[in-house]
Amino acid sequence: MAEPPADPVNLADYAALAAAALPDGPLGYYAGGAGDERTLRENVAAWERRRLRPRVLVDVGAVSAATTVLGTPVDLPVLVAPTALQRMAHPDGEPGMARAAARSGTVMTMSTLATSTPAEVAAAAPGAPRWYQLYVTRDRGVSRALLDSAVDAGFTAIAVTVDAAVPGRRERDHRTGFRVPGHLDMPAVTAALGRTAGVTVEDFFSIVDPSLTWRDLERFAADSPVPVLVKGIQTAEDAALACEHGAGGVIVSNHGGRQLDGVAATADLLPEVVEAVAGRLEILVDGGVRRGTDVLAALALGARAVLIGRPALWGLAARGEDGAADVLAMLQREVENGLALLGCRTPAEVTRAHVA
Ligand code: FNR
Ligand code: LAC
Repeated sequence: MAEPPADPVNLADYAALAAAALPDGPLGYYAGGAGDERTLRENVAAWERRRLRPRVLVDVGAVSAATTVLGTPVDLPVLVAPTALQRMAHPDGEPGMARAAARSGTVMTMSTLATSTPAEVAAAAPGAPRWYQLYVTRDRGVSRALLDSAVDAGFTAIAVTVDAAVPGRRERDHRTGFRVPGHLDMPAVTAALGRTAGVTVEDFFSIVDPSLTWRDLERFAADSPVPVLVKGIQTAEDAALACEHGAGGVIVSNHGGRQLDGVAATADLLPEVVEAVAGRLEILVDGGVRRGTDVLAALALGARAVLIGRPALWGLAARGEDGAADVLAMLQREVENGLALLGCRTPAEVTRAHVA
């Protein structure tokens, strides 16, 4: 393997640094997808295929990547996606990720399968906006308690993940024999199974309730004191159902290619979701975003913002909180540069005509 770069200049450099820093089991868990990893590769490739359409002789003397997401101001249209087990990447863990997001002026979405509690994450970056990702658990008492603690700790939106009723076939984890390292605790898993140390991915996914339906979602959204986003929408049909069942927003996602292998890249399904939602809700998208130009393509196709999963983990794994913050800073610079060259002063000025 090539030497990892001493001085990273882009997200790919952070991926190389993280690969060099992590043991095989954690690296395979973070990097891997389901099955043949067709969707994992396609997520990246589909953004790469998009062609931007710049306009010229527009005054771009002052450009800003700032926007709002569900009414929350952010300095760039890039949020941190929920990813499990962040203390396995670096001791800074979820509190470090929360501080990195806060330093970058954006939202961190904390996972149910975190190695920290919502209160710890809130305490790490008290003034910063934070969202909580919820896996509804078979024992509803467990997810209810997590949700209550997240709302108490000032999380201002809940993203209910709906593409993981059961885990995808993650063959890298089978090859490495991946188990959660003994020194880590996932409070949700410990609450449901009595322990975290040594559990497999299948074990920790077994806490998720596979019987959840739109009726449950609707009731949940009606009772929730904060907006409920549906994370894992992949069709126009389900996007329409989300609008009809009380969702506060949708996240177009195939879980970073980790669930059903062979599904379309999110860049390719975004247009049908945008059409089905028809302006009723804000639409976010994740999966394979690795460049500011990918962010611009997503905005042009109708997304309000994107989320990044693995790139933030690579920053954290390579350099802790500072690395995750650097990844977000790199994307901010790339988005600002791309906006200017596209002939747009703000994300709001990016339209469907800016992508072929
Ligand atoms: C995830 N993702 C995820 N999603 C979720 O709703 N809850 C979770 O706990 C996790 N955990 C998780 C762990 C790891 C290691 C990865 C890579 C991903 C999915 C995540 O939120 C997001 O949808 C994808 O990561 C987006 O794709 P990219 O940016 O990683 O290509
Ligand atoms: C994953 C989880 C935890 O993709 O959502 O591994």
